[in-house]
Amino acid sequence: MSFTEKEIAPLASIEEWEDDVLVRYPEPNTTAKTKDEYRNYDDPKRDTVREFYRLNHTYQTYDFVNQKENNFLKFDKKEMPVWDACDFLNTLVDDSDPDTDLDQLQHLLQTSESIRADGHPDWFVLTGFLHDLGKVLCLFGEPQWAVVGDTFPVGCQHSDKIVFPEFFAANPDSTDERYNTKYGVYEPNCGLRNVHMSWGHDEYLYQIMKDYMPEPALYMMRYHSFYAQHREHAYDHLMDAHDHEMFKWVDKFNPYDLYSKVPVAPNVKELKPYYQDLIAKYLPATLKF
Ligand SMILES: [Fe+2]
Ligand SMILES: [Fe+2]
Repeated sequence: MSFTEKEIAPLASIEEWEDDVLVRYPEPNTTAKTKDEYRNYDDPKRDTVREFYRLNHTYQTYDFVNQKENNFLKFDKKEMPVWDACDFLNTLVDDSDPDTDLDQLQHLLQTSESIRADGHPDWFVLTGFLHDLGKVLCLFGEPQWAVVGDTFPVGCQHSDKIVFPEFFAANPDSTDERYNTKYGVYEPNCGLRNVHMSWGHDEYLYQIMKDYMPEPALYMMRYHSFYAQHREHAYDHLMDAHDHEMFKWVDKFNPYDLYSKVPVAPNVKELKPYYQDLIAKYLPATLKF
């Protein structure tokens, strides 16, 4: 399938998705918007986010995910040391405002530094530092809606707790009886390891890291955009007891991802040696993308 420029990049910047998640799930104790306010608020960015979700919900089918997995899980695109991968990710320039928006590396460091400041184990800090590295998919020409966006299981019924559920009407899986029942191709409580998620930076990074990081870290990487579950509990029927245990870590991670953004940029030069040591402790010299 080929897409037009506009379909590949409906957002001025992939950050518009995370900004929108933040509006949907504001930090507790700030003035929360009601669901209706969220859906109706007047913001020109909102239209591009709607279009982003329309594309995401229309094209992320069971077959689409399988094709992406077959392609990207060959890891034949690029081989890089981790820090070079961060620099590579930082070459992602879009039309966002350079004065107000933090770059990718700054978001990673703000996330990891707030985890570190709370005294969490070093692998948790490293997870914060790595969690969005899968966004390099954008640099391989992938559409924004196949890199970021809330993730959801494919191959079974779409929950109405997923943001903009009405756009799933255009997804061919919604009318395919193999995929449109509550369990679809899955068994009740089969465990998420048996479930294919919509394709994006979470699954990609998990697959790159799966031999190197402790299991709670892998859950955080793999499911950090699965808001329909960690915020809405919409897929308990596919999860097993072990998933529930591990999702405590996903819940712990999420506020650092969403609420660590501050306008002051971290001092990359000063922090680099600490992160280089941490990378060397857990990861091989180079990673295959
Ligand atoms: Fe992310
Ligand atoms: Fe993030």
